[in-house]
Amino acid sequence: MNAMPISAPLLEVKHLGRRFALPRAGLFQPAGALQALSDVSFTLQPGKSLGIVGESGSGKSTLARLVMALDTPSEGQVLFKGVDVHQTHGQALRQLRSGFQMVFQDPYGSLDPRQKVLAIVTEPIRTLQPVSDSRSEWHDRAAQAMSEVGLRTADLDKYPHEFSGGQRQRIAIARALMTRPALIVADEPVSALDVSVQAQVLNLMMDLQDRYGLSYLFVSHDLAVVNLMCDDVLVLQSGRVVEQGSAEHIFKQAAHPYTRALLAAVPGQPPSFLTQETP
Ligand SMILES: Nc1ncnc2c1ncn2[C@@H]1O[C@H](COP(=O)(O)OP(=O)(O)OP(=O)(O)O)[C@@H](O)[C@H]1O
Ligand SMILES: [Mg+2]
Repeated sequence: MNAMPISAPLLEVKHLGRRFALPRAGLFQPAGALQALSDVSFTLQPGKSLGIVGESGSGKSTLARLVMALDTPSEGQVLFKGVDVHQTHGQALRQLRSGFQMVFQDPYGSLDPRQKVLAIVTEPIRTLQPVSDSRSEWHDRAAQAMSEVGLRTADLDKYPHEFSGGQRQRIAIARALMTRPALIVADEPVSALDVSVQAQVLNLMMDLQDRYGLSYLFVSHDLAVVNLMCDDVLVLQSGRVVEQGSAEHIFKQAAHPYTRALLAAVPGQPPSFLTQETP
């Protein structure tokens, strides 16, 4: 068997599109459709981060959900390690999914309030492994994931409401780490958090990236955050890519007026909390 070339992409998105059917505006009106995403293509190499930016409604979350196979594309493909995620189903998809996990925007809505943290954090491996597998092994792995995100083993026995927003997002990150993924898709992971807490969570994400060679698909409307976190940037407007390239290039010499308008909206770029060293 040939070894995979070193530069083989982790993620390849090819001509991805998503159309949503719209309800009829009136009895005699034809049913409409909204093209939320059109012809989006990019590749992501192992250990790298790609920022997806654009105004509200530009298709960022639609793209993230398609990459995670939480939604089905109207056109195009998503290949994870060369395997088309939308042509993979059942247990094969669950196995493939262990390589890519998601962190959502809302740390309040994304954790089941009725479950203890142990159940929440072990959910990705419980769906992968047979029930006969040792529960103590799950507990040990959960305890390790908790310590990786700066929480305590005793926290596994608590409920989500006992934590702050930042701590909840750490729990969501611990859950994502459980399958030892190569890619984390993060949809606005810090935008629901206080500014002071945002920096801590972003620093944690960068530390984890260094430690495990993670790749991030990082969705954000905050260009200062993307500039800090990402190697490459893709700019979406009305579901289309208007600009893509290295973060350095985009932030220094954005060519498209839409990108320049987004950049102009960044207050005091970058905000001081992002450039400060954390003690
Ligand atoms: N399930 C759906 N059915 C119909 N339209 C949808 C659906 N999901 C998204 N849309 C529409 O697709 C477009 C893109 O939405 P999307 O959520 O991807 O935007 P976004 O860039 O993530 O915005 P935001 O920054 O506000 O989160 C919007 O016009 C939205 O209303
Ligand atoms: Mg969104």
